[in-house]
Amino acid sequence: MLVSAKEMLTKAKAGHYAVGQFNINNLEWTKSILLTAQELNSPVILGVSEGAGKYMAGYKTVVGMVNGMLEEQNITVPVALHLDHGSYEGCFKCIEAGFSSIMFDGSHYPIEENVAKTKELVAICNEKGISLEAEVGSIGGEEDGVVGMGEVADPKECKAIADLGVTMLAAGIGNIHGKYPANWQGLSFETLDAIQQLTGDMPLVLHGGTGIPADMIKKAISLGVSKINVNTECQLAFAEATRKYIEAGKDLEGKGYDPRKLLAPGAEAIKATVKEKMELFGSVGKA
Ligand code: G3H
Ligand code: ZN
Repeated sequence: MLVSAKEMLTKAKAGHYAVGQFNINNLEWTKSILLTAQELNSPVILGVSEGAGKYMAGYKTVVGMVNGMLEEQNITVPVALHLDHGSYEGCFKCIEAGFSSIMFDGSHYPIEENVAKTKELVAICNEKGISLEAEVGSIGGEEDGVVGMGEVADPKECKAIADLGVTMLAAGIGNIHGKYPANWQGLSFETLDAIQQLTGDMPLVLHGGTGIPADMIKKAISLGVSKINVNTECQLAFAEATRKYIEAGKDLEGKGYDPRKLLAPGAEAIKATVKEKMELFGSVGKA
């Protein structure tokens, strides 16, 4: 059964580790992530961007696939199905479809409008037992059509949003979606520290988890980050393993063109990436 992310993140914040949000794109992604979480006895959050939701034939299809897999693959670790960077309208669609967690990304609105819309969603999510993530500042780069300017969050605005009663808070602290450029300035730990001081027990979310060096991840966790989002790194791992398979001509041997064989190296590569991240984030054995 899908669960809200509230309990797993409260435990993570208190236990000084982070739960990974891994974005899904299809059945292979979902299966690889869920089986790895189960094998490592780790809680996990499945992220679905609006673009990926459309690609997977709609939010209800996603809910059906994930629920079916939880049951038939005997997944017993806590799993939250979470809308990633949701629009105001997207949040309502996912609530209706049966998601157990949503993110309202109101970071592009003026702060007053972000507060008003987030407040409305807090009331609805509380009533339904769904966890809600809000965002302040913005994550640089682009993810599935969501473009951010990389604006570092104002800790006071973070407090204003946290005080509305959201479950977790994403703040822009110099993090970027996709691959980090060679001249990246790193995360602003000063800002993160100030946000954590003002927001207390609120689990903080680090987006753009792909390619952030391990020491920065650990420091971010020590400053209150309890959820870390990873998307691009699984895509890169999948693409590389698939390329190797095809370049080695394996699709031309026997029935190597069968999608169950063709997609297997990529699925294994996703499992290895998720395992590495769960170990780094410290969520192994925390289910
Ligand atoms: O919302 C999802 C993420 O922030 C993932 O970022 O693609 O850089 O790993 P990433
Ligand atoms: Zn993100």
